[in-house]
Amino acid sequence: MKVGVIGLGYVGLPLALAFAEQGHEVVGLDADTRKVDALRAGESYIEDVASESLAAVAKAESGSERPPKLAATTHYEDLSECDAVIICVPTPLSDAREPDLTHMIDSATALSRVLRRGQLISLESTTYPGTTRERLLPILEESGLAAGRDFYLAFSPERIDPGRTDYTVRTTPKVVGGLTDECTERAAKLYGEICDNVVRVSGPEPAELTKLLENIFRSVNIAMVNEMAMLCDRLGIDIWEVVEAAATKPFGFMRFDPGPGMGGHCLPIDPFYLAYKAREHDFYTEFIELAGKVNQNQPAWCVHRIERALNQVAKPVNGSRILLLGVSYKAGVGDIRESPALRIIRLTREIGGDVAYHDPHVPELGELGLESVALDGEIARADLVCVVTAHPEIDYERVVSEAELVLDFRGVTRGIEAGNLVRL
Ligand SMILES: NC(=O)c1ccc[n+]([C@@H]2O[C@H](COP(=O)([O-])OP(=O)(O)OC[C@H]3O[C@@H](n4cnc5c(N)ncnc54)[C@H](O)[C@@H]3O)[C@@H](O)[C@H]2O)c1
Repeated sequence: MKVGVIGLGYVGLPLALAFAEQGHEVVGLDADTRKVDALRAGESYIEDVASESLAAVAKAESGSERPPKLAATTHYEDLSECDAVIICVPTPLSDAREPDLTHMIDSATALSRVLRRGQLISLESTTYPGTTRERLLPILEESGLAAGRDFYLAFSPERIDPGRTDYTVRTTPKVVGGLTDECTERAAKLYGEICDNVVRVSGPEPAELTKLLENIFRSVNIAMVNEMAMLCDRLGIDIWEVVEAAATKPFGFMRFDPGPGMGGHCLPIDPFYLAYKAREHDFYTEFIELAGKVNQNQPAWCVHRIERALNQVAKPVNGSRILLLGVSYKAGVGDIRESPALRIIRLTREIGGDVAYHDPHVPELGELGLESVALDGEIARADLVCVVTAHPEIDYERVVSEAELVLDFRGVTRGIEAGNLVRL
């Protein structure tokens, strides 16, 4: 098969690699020429994708006329020979927190100009139910071809979880919903090449909503445990002890841990795609809004805890040196999109805090004018050290023994007893 992938980011690049490694010819298209150049040089820019794996399929052999298995391009014409094209472009929120489908519309418009009979188009970008049929289909039909008859159209949500190694593209079941039965079957055949288990649903809408249900489930549960952590603070009960004890129940409970708030490209954004769609139908998704409110307030709660921790040792935030450990949105990755650490930094600076950070995955925070500092010397220099992301590379026992005061938002210091240690 010849497979095209539009948008070679966290989702598209591992997917393109999986098809190429399976022996298929892949055309990877991105609007960003820097990414295309990096791929042609066999260099990965995504932590979960090893440069060696990429170089094996994407690097052009010198002196060879043969294109690499994964040919990177910025030209939509290069997709015209593909049997299937998968769209993995971003679906962010606008400033007014409404769906911004600009990237999808732009890529679909360009694709409609090169679409040809018999092709399968699959959308993977997370979006509200109805997008494939109401927004993508009319643009693709501007080609003069009819969906379901001349070309095939499906939605298949991406379930990638950056940093996770126990489940891969192959072992994570893939949901597909086509416009017609034939569309679903064609999409199932495509993904069957790289996934062991393909789950068919009756159309694009259930497939679109499946992804949102998964993410909203996480968002609501994280908000619930964060609220519980605030209550535990009032009651003087250790939330981590409670979560750990509850997690021993072998049925009917799923563990979620409190923390400084949600980040990444999915959880803080996707639920609002559904809230928007619901409003169109005079329906208000109260769980989504409430969870969003609690989770978005969590960084402010963390700053309140910073103030209180310093107050205990008779110091103001103003002028104090505060060292954050970890600024990416989750452990083991360098992705800072929507990371709560960024808001904690801004809010702490607003009240005069002198903020520094250490993160083995994030060398610099350009927009905040900060660079990751080395731990040596900096731990002891800080008035307060805050654990914001639970990166496994950091030795937390050392942190507690060297620091004047530690505030742990992630529970990584559980099991350590020390007078200079406070947990969320
Ligand atoms: N990152 C995740 O963990 C994750 C997981 C599941 C689903 N998703 C969803 O997948 C989609 C993509 O997310 P991502 O994290 O891979 O985003 P990303 O920003 O990492 O990658 C998207 C790529 O698309 C390219 N692009 C944008 N507009 C384009 C256009 N018109 N033509 C060609 N290329 C274009 C960008 O240059 C970028 O390289 C989003 O809808 C997201 O919600 C992401």
